[in-house]
Amino acid sequence: MLYKKTAVIGHPVDHSLSPTIHNHWIKNLALNIEDYKKIDVHPNEFSDEIDNLIDQGYYGLNVTVPLKELAYKKADRLSDVSKATKAVNTLVFKNGQIFGTNTDPVGFESSLAKNIIENKIKNKKCLVLGAGGSARAIIYALDKMSGKISAYNRTEEKVVLLKKQMKINIENLDATEVNKKLEEFSFIVNTTSVGLSSGPQKDLVDFSNATKNCFVYDLIYKPKETGFMKQAQANGLSTQNGLNMLIGQAAASFYIWHGVNPEVSVDLIQNLATD
Ligand code: ATR
Repeated sequence: MLYKKTAVIGHPVDHSLSPTIHNHWIKNLALNIEDYKKIDVHPNEFSDEIDNLIDQGYYGLNVTVPLKELAYKKADRLSDVSKATKAVNTLVFKNGQIFGTNTDPVGFESSLAKNIIENKIKNKKCLVLGAGGSARAIIYALDKMSGKISAYNRTEEKVVLLKKQMKINIENLDATEVNKKLEEFSFIVNTTSVGLSSGPQKDLVDFSNATKNCFVYDLIYKPKETGFMKQAQANGLSTQNGLNMLIGQAAASFYIWHGVNPEVSVDLIQNLATD
């Protein structure tokens, strides 16, 4: 018998790479698990659809844009990380209850090389661009890694609210301050959706003000070298995209559902290489 049905839900969900990642592990580990599916769920039908999927025997779901907050509200029990980030990307249906957690922060941390954490984050000034759901996950992780956090968002009030809710000490910068202070940062991460759509994009920051040893991270992974990364590289800075974070959050969800730590192989990364 096949057991532990899992899937990703989102709206839209077609673009999701999660099925490729999870099915790679299910196949390679020869686990007796049904193929991981992708299911489009409209936000207006979220609650009923979750109940439907539980009735259909689903054991776990990944939740992606724009449903993470709805999943947070639907869960009966929440992990501390979900409470702090107000988002759920992983649901588990067990003992008649819905458990929600968020594996994005651990996915982000696991995507970073040890020397980056030690030399660019720990007790160092880190700049987070954006104040949406992804920013909360990154801020949570940076705080756990002892980073000193500053944030800049187009809508400044969102940083104020986030700071209050997360109870983390965050320096809130406006557009002028962020460029003036850019040289203070050893780590800069883009969590905004700028760069997700094609076409001309405005620059979020002026990298010519950054110090040469600053490390630049973009949560976006398609294209492999994002516009944000290219701007940083043009100023001599080292960069990383969000692909390993995507794999890291998937691995953490996989472990929660199946109790197995999957291997992040070169094969898998090649499967996911998009350009
Ligand atoms: P996610 O869950 O992926 O974080 P989100 O919660 O919708 O998505 O957050 C999107 C982030 O991208 C926000 O910080 C948003 O800024 P606002 O709070 O001002 O809306 C940011 N963002 C989106 N489009 C942007 C743009 N054109 N310029 C600057 N920031 C932008």
